[in-house]
This record gives sequence, structure tokens and C-alpha cells, in this order.
Amino acid sequence: MTLDITVAPAAPGTRATACLVLAVPEGSFPGSLAAVDTASAGAVLRLYAAKDFSGKKDEVAVVYPPGPAARIVLVGLGKGSAVTRTELRRAAAIGAKRARSLGAGVAEFHLAVEGRGTVSARIAGQVLAEGLGQGAWQFTEMKRPPEDPKAPLTGVVILASTDTAEMAAGAAVGAAVAEGQALTRRIQMLPGNVCTPTFLAEQARELAARHKLKVTILDRAAIVKEGMGALLAVAQGSAEEPRFIVLEYDGAPGKPVVLVGKGVTFDTGGISIKPAANMEDMKFDMSGAAAVLGAFEALGRIRPKVRVIGLIPSAENMPSGTAVKPGDVITSHLGKTVEVVNTDAEGRLLLADALSYARRYEPAVVLDAATLTGAIVIALGHTALGIMGNDDAVVEEVRQAGERAGERGWPLPMWDEYRELNKSDIADVRNTGGRPAGSITAGWFLREFAESFPWAHLDIAGTAYTDREDPTTAKGPTGMGVRLFTEFVLGRARA
Ligand code: BES
Ligand code: MN
Ligand code: ZN
Repeated sequence: MTLDITVAPAAPGTRATACLVLAVPEGSFPGSLAAVDTASAGAVLRLYAAKDFSGKKDEVAVVYPPGPAARIVLVGLGKGSAVTRTELRRAAAIGAKRARSLGAGVAEFHLAVEGRGTVSARIAGQVLAEGLGQGAWQFTEMKRPPEDPKAPLTGVVILASTDTAEMAAGAAVGAAVAEGQALTRRIQMLPGNVCTPTFLAEQARELAARHKLKVTILDRAAIVKEGMGALLAVAQGSAEEPRFIVLEYDGAPGKPVVLVGKGVTFDTGGISIKPAANMEDMKFDMSGAAAVLGAFEALGRIRPKVRVIGLIPSAENMPSGTAVKPGDVITSHLGKTVEVVNTDAEGRLLLADALSYARRYEPAVVLDAATLTGAIVIALGHTALGIMGNDDAVVEEVRQAGERAGERGWPLPMWDEYRELNKSDIADVRNTGGRPAGSITAGWFLREFAESFPWAHLDIAGTAYTDREDPTTAKGPTGMGVRLFTEFVLGRARA
């Protein structure tokens, strides 16, 4: 357990705590919280009277009352009538992040009823737990501990004086998602010399053992036997052994949802080598794989009635005397030949083999997540992931799951004109379509290998990690995809 989230049938006010976090709508101090002000000897109302805080979106104030709470952190939700699950998740993240930086250790959190908008108690419980996990996360395991360390935030008690059971049911789901997200972020953060394909496989094994899931790991010999020529082409320049990871969660009979994640544990570009500036960020090129692992962590805890397969093709992309060269032609798992025009377009190669491998499951649907193209940052910035697919209904289903999950995506067109750009003079297809519409031609390349099932691709290159601290999220890995994948799968589960 990274963050222990529980729900207590209690109102805030008279409880002793290191830190009471209150999420409140814009305006005057909510009437439902009058007891908090009384217990704090008027400290909260003096804050409002001084006009130092009015509950605007993302606004935060810390009050030090004489007791019984050592601190009260107020977080603004913005206009109460406009509150959706997104604002609730966000306020919880902001509150937890502040409680964490204050070194509170264990905090209490309460959402004023005036600030719940039209969100049900169950959904509120879920998104609050998700947000608390998001804000509490930190990565310290590779630094020597400081002389005077702040306590990490290890627990949050959500105070729910009404609808307690519903809130608790939602919070259990949200806490599971939060655990998945924390696992994903840790694995994302670990550098390329630690997080290798072998390491990812080991993580999958441990996860499977924890939740009694089936796991199969293909080593290089098994990958050769399977005929995954595209994955092998990426791996052949590196001293790190490739792995192909298969996870299976069997919550119900029937056709599975298949989740695929790009697991390039470091992307130098290969012979088409990348410039040195920011190349260290390419340790994050396994973020899709980490999102699949995080989604399975969440599913292992939630245990919904649905069948889910996870596929992770993993390799390191290095230049060397044995590396694949521009112009080389390779044979993929599907049998299509690929001209490798640019060895830096490696993600689509190993994903192609994973998509082809997925056929054996007769999937209900396949989703892949990948830090696939720099071009997606040009198209959508760091605000949204790109969605592409071969089935408009699935693309829309993914978009809606992302909207609910607070991991927004936007569809890009897959017109035939774009497909033409991947034509090769020598092979069935080439692995780049040039600079124009770079994310779409990458999507079209994948589509050539998603032959027999509905499929959507999530390009998370712009959203998987962030180079600036924001109110909700620490600098670094975001865990992008875990919430979307989980929402999507829960949406497909039998009641
Ligand atoms: N891993 C990169 C994409 C990437 C770029 C992720 C920036 C995160 C931030 C991918 O393997 C890649 O190198 N793509 C190339 C494709 C090109 C060679 C067609 C790119 O986007 O430049
Ligand atoms: Mn690359
Ligand atoms: Zn890459």
C-alpha cells in the first residue's frame, strides 16, 4: 500500500488530526462546515473575512487553528454549480500534495456537500481517492535521505458524514486505481539501467503473483520461435535481452479486452540516433508498458467481471555494430515485410508484432498506449493524448473513458491519403511516413497490423511525463493511461 485511503462515517470539526483538508466551493465558507470554524476558534472565518481565500479553482490556504486540527488546508473547487468529477479529483490531488509537502504523515479529507455538484457519492469517493493518490505520490528511493526528512503522506481518512457506504465503495475503486497509478509512475521513473526489459518482466511476475493472475514471459529464444522479427530488429542493437510479457486477468468468460503497451526501456534512436539534449527523458519510453502494468494492478484489486489480456513488447533501442540499419528490410510477426527507414521509429515496430500476436485471443477490442511520436506534442501539446483507430465507435468509447478518467484524448483522422505516405519501394510498408502528420502515419503503420479486431491507439508521448511541477502533479511521470484503461475496462465489465 503506497497510500492507505479509508472512509470514516464522521464529520470534520472536533477530530484531532495533523492536517484537515477541506475542499470547498467558491463563495463564503460552507454552512455545513460551521462546526469546523467553531472548533478552530474562528480561524477559518477570519481567513475569509480577510479575503485571503474564497474557494476559487485551485486556490489553497493553510490555517493554523488552536486545535483540534493542527492545520487546516482549504482547497478551492471553483463555482459549486460547475463542479464535476474532474474538479473533485483535482482538488483532492492539490490537497494531498500540500499535506504531503507539509509532512503531515496522515491527513483527513472532507468534501463539503455544497461542493459535490451533481456528482454521485460513489463517483465522488472514487475520484477523490484517485486524486489523493495522485497528489501524495513522490519518488525518493534513489536519493540519500535528508538529515531532517518530512514524513511522506502514508494515509488519508476521507470523512463522509452522509452517504458513507456509497463513498466507501467508490473510494475502494479509486484507491485501487491510485495504487495502479503509483506503481506505473515508479516504474516510469526508474532509469534505463534499472528498468530494463528483464526488470519489466520481473515486475509483471510479481504483480501476477500478488493478484493471482496468469503471466507468461517470452525470452529471446521464445521471441525468435514466435517469429517476432520486428521486436527482434529493435532489440538486436542492445546488450539487453528483449522480453515479451503476457498478463491475463480472467474475471469473466468471453472475448477479452487486450491492452498493449510500448515497452522501450530506453530509446537512443538507434543508428538514426537522437540529439543529446533531453535524451535522458527517453527512459520514459516504456510508459505505455507501465500503464498496462498499472491497469492490471488496479484490476487485480477491483476484480471486475471481464476478461483482460495485457501484452508488453519490450526492448532497448541502441546503436551498435549489430543494430538494425536504415534501409534494412525485416519480416514482422504478421508476415508483412517492413523497410526500416528510420531506426528511431522503433515503437511501431515492436507494437506491430504485439498487435499481430493479439489475434490468437480473438479480442473484443485492442487498445495500445505508446509514447510513439514527438509529433503528437505539436498536434495536441501536453494537454491531450492522441486517439487513432480502425473503428469509430471504439475511438469514441476511448475518448469518453478518457473524459471520465481525467485523461483526455482527442481523435485524429485516419484518411487513406495518410496511409499512402507509408508506402515502400522495396517492402510491404516502411516505418516512417515523413514529418507531415507524423502521429497519424505512425497510427496508420500500426493499423496495418491490427487486421482482425476493433482497435484504438493512444499516443501518450505528450502526456506520459511532465517537465514542470503543477498544483496537482509532481515533476516527472504522470501514470498516463492507467485511469483511462481502467475506466474503459470497467465500462466493458458485466454488472
Ligand atoms: N519515443 C519516441 C517518441 C517520443 C518523442 C516520445 C518525444 C516522447 C517525447 C519515438 O520512438 C520516436 O523517436 N519517434 C520519432 C518518429 C520519427 C523518426 C518518424 C519522432 O517522433 O521523432
Ligand atoms: Mn524512437
Ligand atoms: Zn521510442
